[in-house]
Amino acid sequence: MTAYTDILVDTPKPGVRLITLNRPKVLNALRSTLLEELAAAIALARDDTDVRAVVLTGNERAFAAGADIAEMADRTAVEVVGMDRRMAGWHTLRSFPKPLVAAVNGFALGGGCELAMCADIIVAGEGARFGQPEINLGLIPGAGGTQRLTRAVGKSRAMKMVLTGEAIDARAALAAGLIAEIVPPELALDRALELAEMIAAKPPVAVRLAKEAVLKAQEMTLEAGLDYERKVFALLFATEDRREGVQAFLEKRKPVFKGR
Ligand code: CAA
Repeated sequence: MTAYTDILVDTPKPGVRLITLNRPKVLNALRSTLLEELAAAIALARDDTDVRAVVLTGNERAFAAGADIAEMADRTAVEVVGMDRRMAGWHTLRSFPKPLVAAVNGFALGGGCELAMCADIIVAGEGARFGQPEINLGLIPGAGGTQRLTRAVGKSRAMKMVLTGEAIDARAALAAGLIAEIVPPELALDRALELAEMIAAKPPVAVRLAKEAVLKAQEMTLEAGLDYERKVFALLFATEDRREGVQAFLEKRKPVFKGR
């Protein structure tokens, strides 16, 4: 297994990769090393056919408190424009084709909130806080906060968070549709792993295309999206797993999916 300094990587359940952000002293601030390691671990998970889903988490105090402010203190605009590796890292996360479940406790602020939003499903512990406080630093969100948050929670709520910098709690995040579930903090990771394990047991080709189709809903017109969905639906009739799923139902047995 690759040696990392800022993350921990584990395979706690069959088909499920767990990535833990591991800079607890600075609330998992996303320095470049951390982002590069995270992108590398995600790329390995993407290319490993044994990995069917990934869970991303932090610790009980913080998922991640954003970009590393100390690291970026003296950066010039020219340097920020030229941060191609950092941008490539975010792109790897955003375009990860397998299901990504985030287990969030504590702070998910700035880049940390944006990182959580790269996940397909967010499970939050009570006490989790989501926010885009960049305005307090004379900045705006730089990794999707103005775009993904607006799509997730709507214009007015996103404006409130981005313009005031105030965080929202897990309950407000659930009401806004930013997260899928709230659980007691000590159960957030277990629940995320449980969901990932459940998804890992599903037919992987259908899972992949389902994820893609849901994400298209944020980009396409309704008519184009419905057309896309219909074609993917038809395509899945060509898979062995579709035949197995239907056959198993008819024979009243558990299906055995092979990813074909
Ligand atoms: N970068 C670097 N270090 C950070 C950090 C960050 N984003 N967030 C926290 N830390 C460090 C603190 O400096 C502190 O270190 P020391 O013990 O060495 O002093 C340690 O983590 C613990 O933090 P606090 O003592 O501040 O803990 P707290 O409980 O009093 O406050 C907090 C917690 C409200 C999250 C506060 O730490 C905070 O406001 N952090 C900054 C949040 C922020 O502004 N994030 C946005 C960053 S910009 C960004 O993310 C850009 C982007 O879109 C990509």
